Amino acid sequence: MPVITEIEDLRRLYKRRVPKMFYDYAESGSWTEQTFRENSSDFDQIRLRQRIAVDMAGRTTKSRMIGEDVAMPVALAPVGLTGMQSADGEIKAARAAEKFGVPFTLSTMSICSIEDVAAHTTKPFWFQVYTLKDDDFMRRLFERARAAKCSAIVITVDLQILGQRHKDLKNGLSAPPKLTPKSVADMMTKIPWGIEMLQTKRRFFGNIVGHAKGVTDPTSLSSWTAEAFDPSLDWNRIAKFKEMWGGKVILKGILDVEDALKAAEIGADAIIVSNHGGRQLDGAISSIRALEPIVQAVGDRVEVHFDGGIRSGQDVLKALALGAKGTYIGRAFVYGLGAMGEAGVTKALEVIHRELDLSMAFCGHRDILNVDRDILLVPRGFSGDWA
Ligand code: GLV
Repeated sequence: MPVITEIEDLRRLYKRRVPKMFYDYAESGSWTEQTFRENSSDFDQIRLRQRIAVDMAGRTTKSRMIGEDVAMPVALAPVGLTGMQSADGEIKAARAAEKFGVPFTLSTMSICSIEDVAAHTTKPFWFQVYTLKDDDFMRRLFERARAAKCSAIVITVDLQILGQRHKDLKNGLSAPPKLTPKSVADMMTKIPWGIEMLQTKRRFFGNIVGHAKGVTDPTSLSSWTAEAFDPSLDWNRIAKFKEMWGGKVILKGILDVEDALKAAEIGADAIIVSNHGGRQLDGAISSIRALEPIVQAVGDRVEVHFDGGIRSGQDVLKALALGAKGTYIGRAFVYGLGAMGEAGVTKALEVIHRELDLSMAFCGHRDILNVDRDILLVPRGFSGDWA
Protein backbone atom coordinates (compact mmCIF):
# COMPACT_ATOMS: atom_id res chain seq x y z
CA MET A 1 0.00 0.00 0.00
CA PRO A 2 1.60 3.30 -1.06
CA VAL A 3 1.95 6.07 1.52
CA ILE A 4 -0.48 8.83 0.60
CA THR A 5 0.37 12.20 2.07
CA GLU A 6 -1.11 14.64 -0.44
CA ILE A 7 -3.74 14.92 -3.16
CA GLU A 8 -1.02 14.76 -5.82
CA ASP A 9 -0.18 11.19 -4.68
CA LEU A 10 -3.76 10.22 -5.44
CA ARG A 11 -3.64 11.88 -8.86
CA ARG A 12 -0.56 9.89 -9.83
CA LEU A 13 -2.17 6.59 -8.78
CA TYR A 14 -5.40 7.55 -10.51
CA LYS A 15 -3.57 8.21 -13.76
CA ARG A 16 -2.05 4.74 -13.67
CA ARG A 17 -5.30 2.96 -12.86
CA VAL A 18 -8.02 4.55 -15.02
CA PRO A 19 -8.34 4.57 -18.84
CA LYS A 20 -6.86 7.66 -20.46
CA MET A 21 -10.24 8.72 -21.86
CA PHE A 22 -11.66 9.20 -18.34
CA TYR A 23 -8.49 10.56 -16.78
CA ASP A 24 -8.34 13.15 -19.57
CA TYR A 25 -12.03 13.97 -19.12
CA ALA A 26 -11.42 14.97 -15.51
CA GLU A 27 -8.02 16.52 -16.05
CA SER A 28 -9.03 18.95 -18.80
CA GLY A 29 -10.02 22.52 -19.19
CA SER A 30 -11.51 24.04 -22.29
CA TRP A 31 -9.36 25.20 -25.21
CA THR A 32 -5.94 26.42 -24.00
CA GLU A 33 -6.74 25.41 -20.39
CA GLN A 34 -5.56 28.78 -19.06
CA THR A 35 -8.46 29.12 -16.62
CA PHE A 36 -8.15 25.48 -15.56
CA ARG A 37 -4.48 26.06 -14.69
CA GLU A 38 -5.00 29.43 -13.03
CA ASN A 39 -7.78 28.11 -10.79
CA SER A 40 -5.02 26.28 -8.92
CA SER A 41 -1.96 28.44 -9.53
CA ASP A 42 -3.67 31.66 -8.38
CA PHE A 43 -4.01 30.17 -4.90
CA ASP A 44 -0.21 30.22 -4.71
CA GLN A 45 -0.15 33.99 -4.87
CA ILE A 46 -1.99 34.31 -1.57
CA ARG A 47 0.13 33.79 1.53
CA LEU A 48 -0.91 32.77 5.02
CA ARG A 49 0.13 34.75 8.11
CA GLN A 50 1.95 32.54 10.56
CA ARG A 51 1.16 33.29 14.22
CA ILE A 52 2.89 31.83 17.23
CA ALA A 53 2.33 31.25 20.92
CA VAL A 54 -1.41 30.81 20.60
CA ASP A 55 -3.27 27.96 22.23
CA MET A 56 -3.71 25.27 19.56
CA ALA A 57 -5.52 22.70 21.69
CA GLY A 58 -9.14 21.67 21.12
CA ARG A 59 -9.55 22.62 17.49
CA THR A 60 -12.68 22.24 15.36
CA THR A 61 -13.45 22.50 11.66
CA LYS A 62 -17.19 21.94 12.13
CA SER A 63 -19.44 24.34 10.32
CA ARG A 64 -22.74 24.54 8.42
CA MET A 65 -23.55 24.76 4.72
CA ILE A 66 -27.12 25.85 3.83
CA GLY A 67 -28.10 25.08 7.41
CA GLU A 68 -26.71 21.52 7.37
CA ASP A 69 -24.02 20.44 9.82
CA VAL A 70 -20.71 19.57 8.17
CA ALA A 71 -17.53 18.10 9.65
CA MET A 72 -15.65 20.69 7.60
CA PRO A 73 -17.00 23.17 5.05
CA VAL A 74 -15.92 21.06 2.07
CA ALA A 75 -18.56 19.38 -0.11
CA LEU A 76 -18.02 16.94 -2.96
CA ALA A 77 -18.77 18.82 -6.18
CA PRO A 78 -20.98 17.39 -8.91
CA VAL A 79 -18.74 15.62 -11.45
CA GLY A 80 -20.07 13.98 -14.60
CA LEU A 81 -19.13 10.36 -15.41
CA THR A 82 -17.88 9.67 -11.88
CA GLY A 83 -19.06 6.08 -12.25
CA MET A 84 -16.58 5.65 -15.11
CA GLN A 85 -13.63 6.57 -12.88
CA SER A 86 -14.39 3.57 -10.70
CA ALA A 87 -17.28 1.10 -10.95
CA ASP A 88 -20.34 2.50 -9.10
CA GLY A 89 -18.23 5.59 -8.41
CA GLU A 90 -21.06 7.90 -7.34
CA ILE A 91 -22.23 5.38 -4.74
CA LYS A 92 -18.68 5.01 -3.42
CA ALA A 93 -18.13 8.77 -3.26
CA ALA A 94 -21.52 9.41 -1.62
CA ARG A 95 -20.81 6.79 1.03
CA ALA A 96 -17.38 8.22 1.77
CA ALA A 97 -18.86 11.73 2.08
CA GLU A 98 -21.65 10.49 4.34
CA LYS A 99 -19.22 8.71 6.66
CA PHE A 100 -16.97 11.76 6.79
CA GLY A 101 -19.87 14.13 7.45
CA VAL A 102 -19.67 16.33 4.36
CA PRO A 103 -22.25 16.89 1.61
CA PHE A 104 -22.20 14.86 -1.59
CA THR A 105 -23.58 16.39 -4.79
CA LEU A 106 -24.77 14.00 -7.47
CA SER A 107 -24.41 15.22 -11.06
CA THR A 108 -27.23 14.88 -13.59
CA MET A 109 -24.49 13.41 -15.81
CA SER A 110 -23.75 10.65 -13.33
CA ILE A 111 -23.53 6.99 -14.16
CA CYS A 112 -25.33 5.82 -11.00
CA SER A 113 -28.86 7.20 -10.93
CA ILE A 114 -30.48 9.30 -8.19
CA GLU A 115 -32.33 6.18 -7.04
CA ASP A 116 -29.11 4.10 -6.99
CA VAL A 117 -27.36 6.61 -4.73
CA ALA A 118 -30.40 7.01 -2.46
CA ALA A 119 -30.62 3.22 -2.05
CA HIS A 120 -26.99 3.00 -0.93
CA THR A 121 -26.86 5.97 1.47
CA THR A 122 -28.81 6.97 4.54
CA LYS A 123 -28.43 10.77 4.66
CA PRO A 124 -29.85 13.24 2.15
CA PHE A 125 -27.48 14.28 -0.61
CA TRP A 126 -27.65 17.25 -2.98
CA PHE A 127 -28.63 16.86 -6.61
CA GLN A 128 -27.14 18.94 -9.40
CA VAL A 129 -29.39 19.76 -12.33
CA TYR A 130 -28.71 20.98 -15.79
CA THR A 131 -31.31 23.17 -17.36
CA LEU A 132 -32.79 21.16 -20.20
CA LYS A 133 -35.32 22.24 -22.82
CA ASP A 134 -37.77 19.49 -21.89
CA ASP A 135 -39.90 20.76 -18.98
CA ASP A 136 -41.50 17.34 -18.50
CA PHE A 137 -38.07 15.79 -18.05
CA MET A 138 -37.17 18.55 -15.58
CA ARG A 139 -40.40 18.05 -13.62
CA ARG A 140 -39.80 14.30 -13.43
CA LEU A 141 -36.19 14.89 -12.44
CA PHE A 142 -37.33 17.10 -9.54
CA GLU A 143 -39.89 14.47 -8.52
CA ARG A 144 -37.20 11.81 -8.55
CA ALA A 145 -34.88 14.03 -6.48
CA ARG A 146 -37.72 14.68 -4.03
CA ALA A 147 -38.52 10.97 -3.78
CA ALA A 148 -34.82 10.31 -3.14
CA LYS A 149 -35.02 12.87 -0.29
CA CYS A 150 -32.38 15.18 -1.74
CA SER A 151 -32.12 18.16 0.60
CA ALA A 152 -31.12 20.73 -2.04
CA ILE A 153 -30.67 21.10 -5.75
CA VAL A 154 -27.64 22.71 -7.29
CA ILE A 155 -28.60 24.37 -10.57
CA THR A 156 -25.64 24.73 -12.89
CA VAL A 157 -26.00 28.06 -14.65
CA ASP A 158 -22.79 28.14 -16.67
CA LEU A 159 -23.34 25.22 -19.02
CA GLN A 160 -26.13 25.85 -21.51
CA ILE A 161 -23.65 24.94 -24.18
CA LEU A 162 -20.49 22.92 -23.73
CA GLY A 163 -17.00 24.43 -23.81
CA GLN A 164 -14.69 22.47 -26.07
CA ARG A 165 -12.22 20.14 -24.39
CA HIS A 166 -9.81 19.01 -27.07
CA LYS A 167 -8.87 15.74 -25.39
CA ASP A 168 -12.46 14.49 -25.18
CA LEU A 169 -12.87 14.91 -28.93
CA LYS A 170 -9.54 13.27 -29.68
CA ASN A 171 -10.28 10.38 -27.32
CA GLY A 172 -13.85 9.90 -28.59
CA LEU A 173 -15.15 10.15 -25.01
CA SER A 174 -18.30 8.11 -24.35
CA ALA A 175 -19.95 6.14 -21.55
CA PRO A 176 -19.52 3.23 -21.80
CA PRO A 177 -16.27 3.63 -23.77
CA LYS A 178 -16.47 2.74 -27.44
CA LEU A 179 -14.18 -0.13 -28.34
CA THR A 180 -11.61 1.17 -30.80
CA PRO A 181 -8.07 -0.20 -31.27
CA LYS A 182 -6.78 2.80 -29.29
CA SER A 183 -9.22 2.50 -26.38
CA VAL A 184 -8.84 -1.29 -26.20
CA ALA A 185 -5.03 -0.99 -26.17
CA ASP A 186 -5.31 1.51 -23.34
CA MET A 187 -7.79 -0.59 -21.37
CA MET A 188 -5.49 -3.60 -21.63
CA THR A 189 -3.17 -1.67 -19.29
CA LYS A 190 -6.04 -0.95 -16.86
CA ILE A 191 -7.17 -4.50 -16.07
CA PRO A 192 -8.33 -4.06 -12.43
CA TRP A 193 -10.47 -1.11 -13.55
CA GLY A 194 -11.95 -3.23 -16.36
CA ILE A 195 -12.72 -6.22 -14.12
CA GLU A 196 -14.61 -4.02 -11.67
CA MET A 197 -16.44 -2.32 -14.51
CA LEU A 198 -17.56 -5.66 -15.95
CA GLN A 199 -19.03 -6.57 -12.59
CA THR A 200 -21.44 -3.65 -12.46
CA LYS A 201 -24.46 -2.96 -14.63
CA ARG A 202 -24.03 0.79 -14.15
CA ARG A 203 -22.16 1.88 -17.26
CA PHE A 204 -24.55 4.39 -18.87
CA PHE A 205 -25.77 7.86 -17.88
CA GLY A 206 -28.17 6.53 -15.23
CA ASN A 207 -30.33 9.63 -14.92
CA ILE A 208 -30.85 9.92 -18.66
CA VAL A 209 -31.05 6.55 -20.35
CA GLY A 210 -34.69 5.51 -20.29
CA HIS A 211 -35.77 8.93 -18.96
CA ALA A 212 -34.96 11.55 -21.63
CA LYS A 213 -36.78 11.70 -24.95
CA GLY A 214 -35.22 12.60 -28.28
CA VAL A 215 -31.60 11.98 -27.32
CA THR A 216 -30.11 10.13 -30.27
CA ASP A 217 -26.79 9.17 -28.71
CA PRO A 218 -27.16 8.83 -24.93
CA THR A 219 -23.55 7.66 -24.58
CA SER A 220 -21.99 10.90 -25.76
CA LEU A 221 -21.81 13.89 -23.50
CA SER A 222 -21.27 16.36 -26.31
CA SER A 223 -24.14 15.18 -28.51
CA TRP A 224 -26.44 14.92 -25.51
CA THR A 225 -25.72 18.46 -24.34
CA ALA A 226 -26.08 19.80 -27.87
CA GLU A 227 -29.49 18.11 -28.29
CA ALA A 228 -31.07 18.41 -24.88
CA PHE A 229 -29.67 21.45 -23.10
CA ASP A 230 -31.50 24.74 -23.22
CA PRO A 231 -29.31 27.34 -24.91
CA SER A 232 -31.90 30.03 -24.21
CA LEU A 233 -31.73 29.75 -20.42
CA ASP A 234 -32.36 33.08 -18.70
CA TRP A 235 -33.09 34.34 -15.17
CA ASN A 236 -36.84 33.83 -15.61
CA ARG A 237 -36.27 30.20 -16.39
CA ILE A 238 -33.90 29.80 -13.45
CA ALA A 239 -36.60 31.31 -11.20
CA LYS A 240 -39.13 28.92 -12.75
CA PHE A 241 -36.95 25.88 -11.94
CA LYS A 242 -36.53 27.18 -8.41
CA GLU A 243 -40.30 27.29 -8.07
CA MET A 244 -40.75 23.86 -9.68
CA TRP A 245 -38.39 22.37 -7.10
CA GLY A 246 -39.81 24.27 -4.11
CA GLY A 247 -36.89 23.48 -1.78
CA LYS A 248 -33.39 24.77 -1.20
CA VAL A 249 -31.56 25.98 -4.28
CA ILE A 250 -27.86 26.55 -4.83
CA LEU A 251 -26.81 28.28 -8.06
CA LYS A 252 -23.49 27.06 -9.38
CA GLY A 253 -21.33 28.90 -11.87
CA ILE A 254 -21.35 32.56 -10.81
CA LEU A 255 -18.18 34.49 -11.58
CA ASP A 256 -19.37 38.06 -11.91
CA VAL A 257 -20.72 40.50 -9.32
CA GLU A 258 -23.64 41.50 -11.54
CA ASP A 259 -24.73 37.87 -11.84
CA ALA A 260 -24.30 37.36 -8.09
CA LEU A 261 -26.61 40.32 -7.46
CA LYS A 262 -29.20 38.76 -9.77
CA ALA A 263 -28.90 35.41 -7.97
CA ALA A 264 -29.43 37.12 -4.61
CA GLU A 265 -32.46 38.89 -6.05
CA ILE A 266 -34.20 35.66 -7.08
CA GLY A 267 -33.68 34.31 -3.59
CA ALA A 268 -31.11 31.53 -4.07
CA ASP A 269 -30.15 29.92 -0.77
CA ALA A 270 -26.51 29.85 -1.82
CA ILE A 271 -24.38 30.59 -4.84
CA ILE A 272 -21.21 28.83 -5.89
CA VAL A 273 -18.47 31.04 -7.27
CA SER A 274 -17.22 28.77 -10.03
CA ASN A 275 -16.02 28.72 -13.62
CA HIS A 276 -16.84 25.03 -13.97
CA GLY A 277 -13.30 23.99 -13.22
CA GLY A 278 -12.02 26.00 -16.19
CA ARG A 279 -14.04 23.76 -18.50
CA GLN A 280 -16.31 26.41 -20.03
CA LEU A 281 -15.01 29.92 -20.82
CA ASP A 282 -11.26 29.63 -21.27
CA GLY A 283 -9.75 33.02 -20.41
CA ALA A 284 -12.20 33.71 -17.60
CA ILE A 285 -10.63 34.69 -14.28
CA SER A 286 -9.88 32.05 -11.71
CA SER A 287 -12.55 31.40 -9.10
CA ILE A 288 -10.30 32.50 -6.25
CA ARG A 289 -9.78 35.93 -7.84
CA ALA A 290 -13.53 36.28 -8.35
CA LEU A 291 -14.48 35.34 -4.81
CA GLU A 292 -13.91 38.40 -2.64
CA PRO A 293 -15.76 41.03 -4.72
CA ILE A 294 -18.76 38.68 -4.85
CA VAL A 295 -18.69 38.15 -1.08
CA GLN A 296 -18.53 41.92 -0.60
CA ALA A 297 -21.47 42.48 -2.93
CA VAL A 298 -23.90 39.78 -1.76
CA GLY A 299 -22.40 37.97 1.23
CA ASP A 300 -24.91 39.53 3.63
CA ARG A 301 -27.86 38.27 1.55
CA VAL A 302 -26.89 34.88 0.21
CA GLU A 303 -24.49 32.20 1.35
CA VAL A 304 -21.43 32.31 -0.89
CA HIS A 305 -19.70 29.00 -1.66
CA PHE A 306 -16.50 28.44 -3.58
CA ASP A 307 -15.42 25.92 -6.20
CA GLY A 308 -12.35 25.73 -8.43
CA GLY A 309 -8.76 24.66 -8.10
CA ILE A 310 -8.77 23.33 -4.54
CA ARG A 311 -6.06 20.69 -4.11
CA SER A 312 -5.23 21.17 -0.42
CA GLY A 313 -6.55 22.23 2.95
CA GLN A 314 -4.50 25.41 2.63
CA ASP A 315 -6.56 26.26 -0.47
CA VAL A 316 -9.77 25.63 1.48
CA LEU A 317 -8.51 27.87 4.29
CA LYS A 318 -7.74 30.70 1.84
CA ALA A 319 -11.20 30.52 0.28
CA LEU A 320 -12.86 30.55 3.71
CA ALA A 321 -10.70 33.48 4.80
CA LEU A 322 -11.82 35.40 1.71
CA GLY A 323 -15.41 34.94 2.86
CA ALA A 324 -16.69 31.65 1.43
CA LYS A 325 -19.02 29.81 3.82
CA GLY A 326 -18.41 26.52 2.08
CA THR A 327 -16.12 25.02 -0.55
CA TYR A 328 -16.21 22.14 -3.05
CA ILE A 329 -13.68 19.63 -4.25
CA GLY A 330 -14.20 17.99 -7.64
CA ARG A 331 -10.99 16.68 -9.16
CA ALA A 332 -9.40 16.19 -5.72
CA PHE A 333 -11.98 13.55 -4.79
CA VAL A 334 -12.04 12.02 -8.29
CA TYR A 335 -8.29 11.39 -8.01
CA GLY A 336 -8.95 9.47 -4.80
CA LEU A 337 -11.85 7.56 -6.30
CA GLY A 338 -9.92 6.53 -9.40
CA ALA A 339 -6.89 5.61 -7.31
CA MET A 340 -8.54 3.56 -4.57
CA GLY A 341 -12.35 3.59 -4.84
CA GLU A 342 -14.31 4.60 -1.74
CA ALA A 343 -11.19 4.41 0.46
CA GLY A 344 -9.50 6.87 -1.88
CA VAL A 345 -12.31 9.42 -1.52
CA THR A 346 -12.04 9.04 2.25
CA LYS A 347 -8.28 9.50 1.93
CA ALA A 348 -8.74 12.69 -0.11
CA LEU A 349 -11.09 14.06 2.56
CA GLU A 350 -8.67 13.07 5.33
CA VAL A 351 -5.73 14.73 3.59
CA ILE A 352 -7.65 17.96 3.07
CA HIS A 353 -9.07 17.91 6.58
CA ARG A 354 -5.65 17.44 8.17
CA GLU A 355 -4.11 20.22 6.08
CA LEU A 356 -7.01 22.54 6.87
CA ASP A 357 -6.92 21.81 10.59
CA LEU A 358 -3.15 22.26 10.97
CA SER A 359 -2.91 25.31 8.72
CA MET A 360 -5.76 26.96 10.64
CA ALA A 361 -3.83 26.35 13.87
CA PHE A 362 -0.58 27.72 12.44
CA CYS A 363 -2.53 30.86 11.54
CA GLY A 364 -3.55 31.19 15.17
CA HIS A 365 -7.10 29.79 15.16
CA ARG A 366 -8.81 26.87 16.81
CA ASP A 367 -12.29 27.25 15.36
CA ILE A 368 -12.86 27.41 11.61
CA LEU A 369 -15.80 29.75 12.19
CA ASN A 370 -13.43 32.41 13.55
CA VAL A 371 -11.13 32.40 10.52
CA ASP A 372 -11.26 35.65 8.59
CA ARG A 373 -9.35 37.80 6.10
CA ASP A 374 -6.86 38.71 8.79
CA ILE A 375 -4.98 35.42 8.32
CA LEU A 376 -4.13 36.25 4.71
CA LEU A 377 -1.54 38.26 2.86
CA VAL A 378 -3.15 38.99 -0.48
CA PRO A 379 -1.21 40.80 -3.22
CA ARG A 380 -2.62 44.21 -4.04
CA GLY A 381 -5.00 44.05 -6.99
CA PHE A 382 -5.38 40.28 -6.64
CA SER A 383 -9.05 40.37 -7.49
CA GLY A 384 -8.18 42.41 -10.51
CA ASP A 385 -7.49 45.94 -11.39
CA TRP A 386 -8.88 45.17 -14.81
CA ALA A 387 -9.90 47.86 -17.23
C1 GLV B 1 -19.81 18.56 -17.24
O1 GLV B 1 -20.28 19.13 -16.31
C2 GLV B 1 -18.50 18.75 -17.70
O2 GLV B 1 -17.90 19.80 -17.39
O3 GLV B 1 -17.99 17.89 -18.43
